[in-house]
Amino acid sequence: MARNDWHGRQFPHPGRRRPVIGDLLTVDRSSPIQSMLEASRGLGPIWELRVLRERLVFVGTAELTAELCDETRFCKALPPAVDALRDYAGDGLFTAYNHEPNWQLAHELLVPAFTKSAMRSYHPVMVETASELFDYWERRLADGPVDVSRDMTKLTMETLTRSAFSRDFGSFRTAEAHPFVAAMVTALETGRRKGTVRTLPGGSALAWLLDRRYARHTDYLDSMLDELIATRSGSDEQHDLLGIMLNVAHPETGEKLEPVNIRYQILTFLVAGHETTSGALSFALHYLARNPDCLARARSEADEILGDDPTAMPEFEQVAKFRYIRRVLDESLRIWPTVPGFARAPRESTVLADEYRMDPDDYAIVSLGAVHKDPAVWDDPDRFDPDRFLPGNVKKRPPHSYKPFGAGLRSCIGRQFAIHEAVLVLATLIHRFDFEGDPGYDLRVTERLTMLPEGFELTLRPRARSEVAAS
Ligand code: HEM
Repeated sequence: MARNDWHGRQFPHPGRRRPVIGDLLTVDRSSPIQSMLEASRGLGPIWELRVLRERLVFVGTAELTAELCDETRFCKALPPAVDALRDYAGDGLFTAYNHEPNWQLAHELLVPAFTKSAMRSYHPVMVETASELFDYWERRLADGPVDVSRDMTKLTMETLTRSAFSRDFGSFRTAEAHPFVAAMVTALETGRRKGTVRTLPGGSALAWLLDRRYARHTDYLDSMLDELIATRSGSDEQHDLLGIMLNVAHPETGEKLEPVNIRYQILTFLVAGHETTSGALSFALHYLARNPDCLARARSEADEILGDDPTAMPEFEQVAKFRYIRRVLDESLRIWPTVPGFARAPRESTVLADEYRMDPDDYAIVSLGAVHKDPAVWDDPDRFDPDRFLPGNVKKRPPHSYKPFGAGLRSCIGRQFAIHEAVLVLATLIHRFDFEGDPGYDLRVTERLTMLPEGFELTLRPRARSEVAAS
């Protein structure tokens, strides 16, 4: 039986299906996720797309998501596009199969690097990096508006490389993004395309051609990873993620990560750990620029906690006190989950929703763009309203109706890191700067590794101490 056969069951699909290519015409190459979501409207709680030989089954309701998030019955699955990333990220945390021993080992070794006390040690790095970005902006005020997604990506990349690998990428010394970003985006996009072409007759040859065409990007990534590791070999430091990976043995088994796996993990953290957060920050800034009442509430919270000095930075404990700003972040990730979905497969043969028979070979993709707007749960789902995340309102909602960080054992290991960084950056940015978006700008979303606003600019104006005090 073919993978994802669902016992031969057919699901609703968009109307333009053609022989051989299936629903390919429905999928816009430059924005596949958004076009697939658009095409799914009106198809019901579960639908499918066939692209060439690949079949994808999606769910879009909180009810089905809750069932798929039951860890006793379901676990993470790797759809072909994610599976293809294994060419680069192997059995690194994100792309490992559930049964691979390196997932368990890396998970157990690295969880301590994401505890609250570890966050405390990253806090000064986050503060320093955000201050550098703000200084960089102040030096360039005369250059006009800033490209928000570009600069948020610089910021989150720099925070990650400094906290995880103690490495300064020099992002604020040049206007351009670090070449790693372009190489990584190309390499992973190539991986995704290889995932699709491999399902075709002669697909391996096409995949090989793609590999050859983009070899210089992967060579660049390889040399960067080698260099990153080489500068630390011989040292027994354990103060950051790389130190733990190189030098810490499992307390019970004594096992350590193998060098090849360390390379996979570094790439995984570089990929999973920066654009996800930069997208979340950029969407949050977009909604703040568009909603003056929300901005006023967020700013008054920041001013109250940080005081009169517009350049003040918070202590570690203060970050959790930005409750409204945290709700702004949560609401932005609801409307635009920067990781748009995750896949789940049954541990054993089962029946989903008392109706759909599934074997361990079948998987369903939770479409967060649909689940986070499920009208059965979310009232007026397109409206930006951070107060949906007031504790009383959260309690009223069914569990698993909001899953931007995934589910269960394989959910996001960097969740606290991302939230701490994003809340800190939002609070200090709106404390230090006033900003204005282009009123004529309509949100456009680009799909790279994750979802990011495209062409979104803000004109910044530093706030004076007297202005903050008066507020
Ligand atoms: C707003 C920011 C972020 C979002 C929305 C996000 C989202 C997610 C989601 C949905 C998954 C699960 C994917 C699946 O089930 O297939 C995941 C896994 C993962 N994330 Fe994040 N993430 C964010 C930030 C981060 C950061 C900052 C790091 C690292 C510092 C990170 C590292 C990882 C890793 C390593 C995994 C794989 C975990 C495993 O399977 O053991 N993420 N993330």
